[in-house]
Amino acid sequence: MATAKFKDTSPYVKPKPSPPEDDYLYKKYLEHFALKAENEPIIKVALFGVGRAGTIHLATMNSNKRVQLLYIVDDVESNWQSLRKYWHLDNVTFLNSKQSDKVFKDPNVDAVFVASPTYTHEGIVIKALEAKKAVFCEKPIAEDRPNTVKCYEMAKKVGKPLFSAFNRRFDPSYSNLQERVRKGEVGHVHMIKTVSRDSPLPSLDYLKVSGAIFHDCLVHDIDMITWVLGELPDKVSVLAHANIPEIKAIGDFDTVAVNLHFPSGTVGMIDLSRNSSYGYDQRLEAFGPKGMLQAANEQFHSVHAYNELQGITTAPIFYSFASRFMNGYLREFDHFLDVVHGKVESQVKSKETLAVSKIATACEESARLGKIMELTWTKDELPDNL
Ligand SMILES: NC(=O)c1ccc[n+]([C@@H]2O[C@H](COP(=O)([O-])OP(=O)(O)OC[C@H]3O[C@@H](n4cnc5c(N)ncnc54)[C@H](O)[C@@H]3O)[C@@H](O)[C@H]2O)c1
Repeated sequence: MATAKFKDTSPYVKPKPSPPEDDYLYKKYLEHFALKAENEPIIKVALFGVGRAGTIHLATMNSNKRVQLLYIVDDVESNWQSLRKYWHLDNVTFLNSKQSDKVFKDPNVDAVFVASPTYTHEGIVIKALEAKKAVFCEKPIAEDRPNTVKCYEMAKKVGKPLFSAFNRRFDPSYSNLQERVRKGEVGHVHMIKTVSRDSPLPSLDYLKVSGAIFHDCLVHDIDMITWVLGELPDKVSVLAHANIPEIKAIGDFDTVAVNLHFPSGTVGMIDLSRNSSYGYDQRLEAFGPKGMLQAANEQFHSVHAYNELQGITTAPIFYSFASRFMNGYLREFDHFLDVVHGKVESQVKSKETLAVSKIATACEESARLGKIMELTWTKDELPDNL
């Protein structure tokens, strides 16, 4: 009886609440339900590389009505028939990398997606831009900063977008945390931390051509931290070790601890591993005088079990990037299409990508030389929004 006084009128007679803007998947569903057609031409695309990352983008292309796939370029020709059959790609032309000029010469191709190994990016990006195609390139755009600069200079020269696929920016939890930090919810950030422990352990074939842990993995964390803060570090100090003999044998590391210092006084920490046995451990935390914001791990179901005297058991965390960040990959894909149509500016700016590459190189030098590295930034290097 005590709560009877709170009885309200029927929800049917009240204004209907709108779904939250951030519920991206529901928003997409509503578009499909309402058959809401975009008043825009379909973007015709080519995909380079159908491995781990390329498969994510291929699945999106196949279900996104804003694009039409014209070409797949991949050197494993024995997979072509199965790919065509599985994805119903009857009208898609398959090429190997030696035949890829056909893509660049085809005036029907508006955009090129690059998901081939990192050492191939620069060549494909430059050719695609020269041919006046928009480019979506998996991170990193090139193996080092000078070649990344070359790619962005070409993009500027031809006036076409070159998008660096820092997918974590489009993850709902990470982007929510970034927006709230930027609104001052924790005040001036004193400490920012990421945990990035990869799962499953990548193959040695992948690691040998990955460009090493600093430019392959750490770039994601450096991007997260600098993007959340809107500030670039003036010092980095890194300790790293290869605990896995096969990774040691190829001269790479599997365990990395990074400390960053920022001019405003913020201190950052990155805890990075190639091999987490309990799933893809991805966390982000910002701490300041007014409190803490934390983006925690996510799980693939939400059941809590209470059995015998084992305490509470729940689902494992997501196993890998393809499931943990799927929502972000979809948002990133649509964002790129909006950029190609000129509806929005790219959320990933060239100066930000170049700064990340410079910091990753300083981190690698710090680990290899056992030194604290000082970083200085010219006015031209500072992102415009800093
Ligand atoms: N953003 C992310 O979450 C994410 C995740 C994984 C990988 N990546 C990036 O994606 C890229 C590919 O990594 P992956 O794990 O998918 O590698 P992968 O080895 O699984 O796949 C690479 C594919 O590219 C093909 N290939 C090789 N040379 C080619 C060429 N010259 N032209 C076209 N295709 C070619 C290979 O046959 C293979 O199918 C890397 O740059 C990596 O850093 C990004």
